[in-house]
Amino acid sequence: MEKIHAIITGVGGFVPEYVLDNEELSRMVDTSDEWIMSRIGVKERRILNEDGLGTSYMARKAVKQLLEKTNTDPLSVDAVICSTSTPDYQFPSTASIVLGKCGMTNAHAFELSAACSGWLFAMDQASCMIESGRYKKIVVVGADKMSSVVDYTDRQTCPIFGDGAGAALVEATTEDMGWMDSYLRTDGAGLPFLCVKAGGSATPTSTFTLEHRLHYLHQEGRTVFKIAVTNMSDAVARIAERNNLDKENIAWVVPHQANVRIIDAVAKRLEIPSEKVMMNIQHYANTSSATLPLALWEYEKQLRKGDNLIFTAFGAGFTWGAAYMKWAYDGE
Ligand code: UT7
Repeated sequence: MEKIHAIITGVGGFVPEYVLDNEELSRMVDTSDEWIMSRIGVKERRILNEDGLGTSYMARKAVKQLLEKTNTDPLSVDAVICSTSTPDYQFPSTASIVLGKCGMTNAHAFELSAACSGWLFAMDQASCMIESGRYKKIVVVGADKMSSVVDYTDRQTCPIFGDGAGAALVEATTEDMGWMDSYLRTDGAGLPFLCVKAGGSATPTSTFTLEHRLHYLHQEGRTVFKIAVTNMSDAVARIAERNNLDKENIAWVVPHQANVRIIDAVAKRLEIPSEKVMMNIQHYANTSSATLPLALWEYEKQLRKGDNLIFTAFGAGFTWGAAYMKWAYDGE
């Protein structure tokens, strides 16, 4: 029997209209465009600032666009995986809301929580489901409303993050392409360095947690930076080596967009020039689960069938990894 591979057959994306640029941020906290550009590489970020709209709003916009673009009947979708760290509600899942709003009612939907590595992990999950032969069409959406957990009085974290959503349609092929290999890891030791301390079952909401601002994202930036550089670089090197990929035959590196200096370090490890590295951090910042699919969405037109792509991500947990995908269609 021929081996079934999982390919991406289309991508969709959505970012909110409101632009929070470094000038405006500099009026909110003690920072500057110069510091943010040189230390992080972000010029502006999008913020979903309309009352009552959560992550599912952006996710469903991205998914609706994806279904329209790919001429996909919502009823033909078998499964919906949503990766997010900022779900609309603790339950039900954001995935189930997106499924309902987009009419994908012949599918089952579930959330995947792996922080900024979420979409990478979700793609790997979807690929295994497709390769099993039991699923033909899976929507993998990464979406985060990071502004809902960012403390806009904390200059150490507020410049970093933005809101957005990206989605991919994953289908089956017997051609020798698609999701070829992955190396994914998690290390629970990351908890104290990158987390939201309260609001979960360990420390439910109380007057104390509200007074101490424990519902906001907490990050020890320097520690996270060092481990992100090491782990992402090691992961891409490992994936490249075991698939005989090098600077000659890698078409694109698709890295998580947390810090331009981390992205540069990962590219350097692979000796890949910056023109081959997808980058959207300047105008979207770190959209967590959405960075990778949003990058594909923006660069889709430049992609060609047969291109070798290396994805890599790093997030809270810690979670990290890399994957190799042979792209399945011409973007134009
Ligand atoms: O996506 C999930 C994974 N997350 C990441 O990968 C993020 C990893 N970490 C980072 O990207 C970086 O560590 C940050 C961007 C968070 C911070 O950059 P850094 O170069 O590590 O800065 P730092 O925390 O070492 O701070 C350097 C200085 C400090 O001042 P002193 O102590 O040297 O006088 C900070 O107080 O910069 C100061 N600083 C700022 N200055 C102006 C910190 N934030 C700001 C700011 N504006 N926004």
